[in-house]
Amino acid sequence: MIKINENYLKLKASYLFADIARRVTAYQHANPEKEIIKLGIGDVTRALPKACIEAFHRAVDEMSSDTTFKGYGPEQGYPFLRKIIARQDYQSRGADIDPDEIFISDGAKCDTGNIQEIFSADTRVAIPDPVYPVYLDTNVMAGRTGDFNDGRYHGIYYLESTRENGFIPELPNQPVELIYLCYPNNPTGATISKEQLTDWVRYAKENKALILYDAAYEAFIRDESIPKTIYEIEGAREVAIEFRSFSKTAGFTGTRCAFTVVPKTCMAYDRKGEKHPLLPLWNRRHATKFNGVSYPVQKAAEAVYSPEGKVQVKELIGDYMKNARLIRKEMTGLGYECVGGDNSPYIWINGKQDSWDFFDMLLNKAGVVCTPGAGFGKCGKGYIRISAFNSYENVQKALKRIRLVL
Ligand code: MLT
Repeated sequence: MIKINENYLKLKASYLFADIARRVTAYQHANPEKEIIKLGIGDVTRALPKACIEAFHRAVDEMSSDTTFKGYGPEQGYPFLRKIIARQDYQSRGADIDPDEIFISDGAKCDTGNIQEIFSADTRVAIPDPVYPVYLDTNVMAGRTGDFNDGRYHGIYYLESTRENGFIPELPNQPVELIYLCYPNNPTGATISKEQLTDWVRYAKENKALILYDAAYEAFIRDESIPKTIYEIEGAREVAIEFRSFSKTAGFTGTRCAFTVVPKTCMAYDRKGEKHPLLPLWNRRHATKFNGVSYPVQKAAEAVYSPEGKVQVKELIGDYMKNARLIRKEMTGLGYECVGGDNSPYIWINGKQDSWDFFDMLLNKAGVVCTPGAGFGKCGKGYIRISAFNSYENVQKALKRIRLVL
């Protein structure tokens, strides 16, 4: 008798954003004349930067001739991309990262979801609340939790991000081994200071733990004092893996390109307590289960680092940040407490009511899609998240409708 992985039965029936998409589609069917403005899932709306498109085209042309055609590429990514990332994203900020510590992939969602495979099944995991659901769901699938009761999975240590702690969780008060952190944060938009991140790195070192640092939104940081990478913190090379993505930085949500940094000095232990570097394990996993991002997509990603690409990306992000500032200003003006929107494309709003009710009200009365905070965890109850990914005109229109409704 073929048996299922019963851990899947512990999960909520569908993934948060799939659930929201279903509600929006149902509303659209029932109200075909209504125009909906989507400020829910963080999906970019602007075209790829011109430098990326041109590089993409050139690379596609290379595929049309036998002499320049590329078949399978290296699973870890082409050296041209790994080198430029190491130089521009890390070495230029004093972070000592080598190209061969960078693994190109098709998304930070997949990488943050897959990375848990290289750790023991009985790893004690600390996960933020509220949280990007992928970290939690993939650990549930892997059997690291018990059942779901009262908004929580048994066996997970929840790092609560609340108004009281400024949306930066306290260090764990019991031993944990694998710690997920995401800054600028999805969903709260909060950022972490160098001092706070230093405390986490120290905790990881003292407890032989490992930090999985999701920095997918680093490009939105405006304040120079905020760390853009965990490797700006001394000692992080020994205790942290970092995830980055071109999705929000350069509009690659549909094009797919991201990367994971696993420093050679990053270690974990076997059951006898012997140290092992994580890079060969991740390399083994990656090479076995992944066949590389397509050559044209990697060429398009490389163009993000060209002089023109950098200007265009800055403009793109600047436009989304203009939306973010407007959303925060308007919602604050309407009397709602807001976090984020200054160094992040997400604005986390205390809706002062059930977050699914708030979501339904904005959808049904204003035709605006947001994300209910409760979908990100128990601490998200009462909040909604509004994303800055849309045109300025649509954001203005959405806010006008929201003003009328509220
Ligand atoms: C979000 O809206 O939280 C993100 O777009 C989801 C993702 O990046 O997968």
